[in-house]
Amino acid sequence: MDFSLTEEQKLLKEMVREFAEKEIAPYVDKWEEEHHFPREIFRKLGKLGLLGMTANPEYSGTKSDYLSFILVLEELSRVSASVALTVSVHSSLFIKALQEYGQEELKKKYLTAAARGEILGAFSLSEPGAGSDASNLQTKAYQKGDYYIINGIKSWVTTGSEAEAFILFAVTSAEKEKKKISAFLVDKKMPGIQILKLEKKMGFHSSPTAQIAFEDCPVPATNLIGEEGRGLAIALRLLDGSRIGIAAQAVGLAQQALELGIRYAKEREAFGQKIANFEAIQFMLADAATLIEASRLLTYQAALLVDYNLPYTKEASMAKLFASETANKVTYLALQIHGGYGYCREYPIERLFREARVTTIYEGTSEIQRIVIARQLLKEAEGQIC
Ligand code: CAA
Repeated sequence: MDFSLTEEQKLLKEMVREFAEKEIAPYVDKWEEEHHFPREIFRKLGKLGLLGMTANPEYSGTKSDYLSFILVLEELSRVSASVALTVSVHSSLFIKALQEYGQEELKKKYLTAAARGEILGAFSLSEPGAGSDASNLQTKAYQKGDYYIINGIKSWVTTGSEAEAFILFAVTSAEKEKKKISAFLVDKKMPGIQILKLEKKMGFHSSPTAQIAFEDCPVPATNLIGEEGRGLAIALRLLDGSRIGIAAQAVGLAQQALELGIRYAKEREAFGQKIANFEAIQFMLADAATLIEASRLLTYQAALLVDYNLPYTKEASMAKLFASETANKVTYLALQIHGGYGYCREYPIERLFREARVTTIYEGTSEIQRIVIARQLLKEAEGQIC
């Protein structure tokens, strides 16, 4: 597999790095401190075409290769994991759901606006009692004339309070039938929607996470995404792709932590010399850099499989598992290098340490990734996957 980047990909990476250094880096700590959602940044990213990378050109998208999209997430995350998360959910879950499964009228209305960055989208699968066990949804949608009426509570909705629309998953089968889940596009302006609370999280304060109630919310039947009853398979298919995005986010975050560790080690003196001269510090840097490079290669490999139109479920989970565990290890090491200062808010490594923690949890915990990988291995052994 060829991991070398094309000239276009290198230029894109440079452009996003410059944008992130200039437009995001000077403000990121203030935004996190003030729990500010930087809407203005998403407008700018939209104008640069970076919110429509997974949409087709007829809907104002650029339909870029997946590796290019992954490079953008990595570079954004190197400066702000919160910004990268919003872009990731919007592009690889909301836009991709519409692009691949939405009806034409819905695409014209929502996909075009989302690709331009005029609206932001969210993904509403999890519930208070259905996280890892995604099929245990309690939210219900029953058909009444030309509408589905939705009732239930959704939780852990990234960008939930800010997004203009959601891809929402609900049970559409009657009580006694086998549980069938369907996907819908729900516009925030539809009646019966109430933000119940914003989670008080350990980090990611510039990325609001909402719990949302839907009470007799009428959604036009034409807003059905994909076939009725195929919602869970659609959700899991979309998550395969978006997990590569979370892997890229973890790589960018870990990269930033390593750079901070190196900078501090070259500045800080102890026992009459720079601490970078000590092997104990050098070994930490070497371990961190090696883990990051391995994560990056797994992530790029999974993205290239998408681009080559080959199966990528297992590789996406491997990349997500390894890169998110790496982000935790690397931020731990980089904080250790900072000593007591690393434990204080005035050094950004303290924020990165908190941010890394959730990457092994959202979009499927590390344990869920292992289940996905193992199931694929066993299927391969049975010759079900070629
Ligand atoms: N692609 C396409 N279809 C798939 C698929 C895939 N990768 N994986 C499974 N399917 C299909 C199956 O074939 C099956 O279809 P049929 O109904 O036709 O048989 C259906 O989907 C259900 O699959 P399973 O029977 O394997 O499902 P399961 O109940 O055993 O669950 C699981 C498997 C791996 C545990 C899965 O539930 C899972 O991944 N859970 C974690 C969910 C998750 O990642 N949630 C995060 C939500 S988003 C978030 O974090 C918030 C945010 O905004 C960032």
